[in-house]
Amino acid sequence: MASGRAPCERAVRARTDAPCQTPCVQGDDDRYARLEHRLQAQLEEQRALRRVATLVAGQHEAAEVLAVVAEEVARHLAADAAMLARYEGPAAATVMADWSAPGLEPVPVGAALALDDASALARVQATGVPARVDAYEELQGDHGEEMRRLGMRAAIAAPILVDGHLWGAVAAGSAGTPFSPDAEERLGAFAELVAQAIGNVDARMKLRESRVRIVQAADEARRRIERDLHDGAQQRLVGLALHLRLLAMRLGPADAPQVQALIDETHAALQDLRELAHGIHPAVLTEHGLAAALGGLAARAPVPVLVEADLAERLPPAQEAALYFVAAEALTNVAKYARAGSVEVRVTRDDGWAEIAIADDGVGGASAERGSGLRGIADRIDALDGALRIESPPGAGTTVRARVPA
Ligand SMILES: Nc1ncnc2c1ncn2[C@@H]1O[C@H](COP(=O)(O)OP(=O)(O)O)[C@@H](O)[C@H]1O
Ligand SMILES: [Mg+2]
Repeated sequence: MASGRAPCERAVRARTDAPCQTPCVQGDDDRYARLEHRLQAQLEEQRALRRVATLVAGQHEAAEVLAVVAEEVARHLAADAAMLARYEGPAAATVMADWSAPGLEPVPVGAALALDDASALARVQATGVPARVDAYEELQGDHGEEMRRLGMRAAIAAPILVDGHLWGAVAAGSAGTPFSPDAEERLGAFAELVAQAIGNVDARMKLRESRVRIVQAADEARRRIERDLHDGAQQRLVGLALHLRLLAMRLGPADAPQVQALIDETHAALQDLRELAHGIHPAVLTEHGLAAALGGLAARAPVPVLVEADLAERLPPAQEAALYFVAAEALTNVAKYARAGSVEVRVTRDDGWAEIAIADDGVGGASAERGSGLRGIADRIDALDGALRIESPPGAGTTVRARVPA
């Protein structure tokens, strides 16, 4: 660098990790400074991307990866706030991640945004290219007012294209001066580079969402079959048994035993049907909740089962069904394999989790690798972002433990 010249402000700031927002001083000799600055900016960009890539490769939770991207964007542009939003339709987006400097009001993840035409996000959606808003002070209407309320003075946004489609946008806000003239271009370059990571994360999120939908659809189908059995075949068998009884009363002693045999057969069929319907989806679970349904399971078990379910309020249907089916599978296994003397079923709730533990004092040695039942419930629990653990040392009983966010 030419001696006696102050180094470009940006180059100096880039070394301290905070890119500056003012353009370089133009002059004959600052080419070197500008080159160095560009190099520093690129290096910083590479470092930021490596941090994002490491997180994606580590199979971290989607929300965590997106939160890091938002923070890296804010750092990259020395912004006061940064946000990742997914477009949901015309003028509609969902907040996927948000980072706000201390003292600024954060925007909650998951919030639905109705995009104002004047917003940077709406303009990116309309044009597919980066956009900027330099002065919210001058904006009329709700959007300008909302931005001023959040403490924002200026914003930029850039599109995120995943597989050639406009997936969403990344936006940065400033509580002070507007962004430098090249800022949205830099944001655009950064958005392009993180799009790949977001593509991976998005695929994982979609997979998770679709697994939850599959479990919910299966539960709904089970509930419907149970209702149809109850309102249809079961009611007809009850009616048939009544008619047979009336018939038996009118018949003489010679024919009555034959009809009684038919009545018994009808009752047996009814009982089988009830058991079948119960296994598909017990009505008591829908109507009275987990504790009552566990009581029903305990009553049917061939070994004594102690149930302790301390639930002040009902869980969401998917979580309730998942924990119920864990208990149903575990108790079936106890009856089939454990040679146990007794079983304890405990349901507890703490810090946003609901947990069920089914512990028997049988022979142990259970493993999800050897059958299909435990693997099935593990998939169901996994789809709800929960966890299933099986402790089953040989000779020391089996404990199946499942927890789901509630
Ligand atoms: N409570 C238990 N006590 C002893 N062994 C068990 C218990 N639960 C399961 N097992 C063993 O683990 C295997 C896997 O269980 P599971 O996945 O439910 O298979 P399955 O579909 O055959 O019931 C069973 O085949 C059985 O050998
Ligand atoms: Mg089983």
